[in-house]
Amino acid sequence: MPADTRSFIILNTVDSTNNYAMGIVHSGMAVHGNAYFALEQTEGKGRRGKVWKSTKEENIILSIIANTCFLSVKHQFKLIAAVSLGCIDFLKSSVKENIKIKWPNDLFYDDTKAGGILIENVVKGKVWQWAVIGIGINVNQTEFSPDISSHSISLKQIEGKDFDVIGLGKHLCDCVLKHIEDLKQTNFEIILNQYNASLYQLNKKVKLKKKNIVFETMITGVSPQGQLLTKDFMERSFDFDEVEWVL
Ligand code: BTN
Repeated sequence: MPADTRSFIILNTVDSTNNYAMGIVHSGMAVHGNAYFALEQTEGKGRRGKVWKSTKEENIILSIIANTCFLSVKHQFKLIAAVSLGCIDFLKSSVKENIKIKWPNDLFYDDTKAGGILIENVVKGKVWQWAVIGIGINVNQTEFSPDISSHSISLKQIEGKDFDVIGLGKHLCDCVLKHIEDLKQTNFEIILNQYNASLYQLNKKVKLKKKNIVFETMITGVSPQGQLLTKDFMERSFDFDEVEWVL
């Protein structure tokens, strides 16, 4: 869809832009590519039921509605990969190096988190109808709550200058939608290779935790289904949320 036929709606305060966009989907008013940007979010949601905190007017708080009918429900990782690549392209336009995807969809600069993605889906019968793609990027915030401050970073902290958050939000939206269009035209192997090329700790030994047991293993990539692949004395693969990173 051309950039000028979609809407980029700026909201003052919402509980969660994902909830807001999901409300639009459920009311039957969804349009592919429409985006909802909030200046303030009071109950921002992170992955795994966590809270996403964001200081008022300082960050990107964005949800994009995507029509996913062209994808099978079994292929949800395809969308995650495309959205992650869109976010990486966007971040690389502001930050020159060391931008990586920490599996499955954290946006990292060096060993710190600059943003995250939360995708929520609407499936009817066997058809994946819509996705609400929520993205939070730390832009001008320089103080984080103690529980996350040691592993969070903002673009301002990386680049030493302030950014126009709304302008960046629009650019992020364009980058993500471009990669979703690419999903329709490009062999997924190419997209997966690009995702793996940006993978945090690729070919490095890391510590992971599964059911309270911490173990060391080497990251070898991510499979077409989105499983994390590792190798130590044997090859392993992990589904989403089966393991946690120990940083
Ligand atoms: C994570 O890393 O846990 C994912 C964070 C996703 C946060 C964004 S901010 C915009 C959208 N609205 C929400 O409530 N969450 C996502």
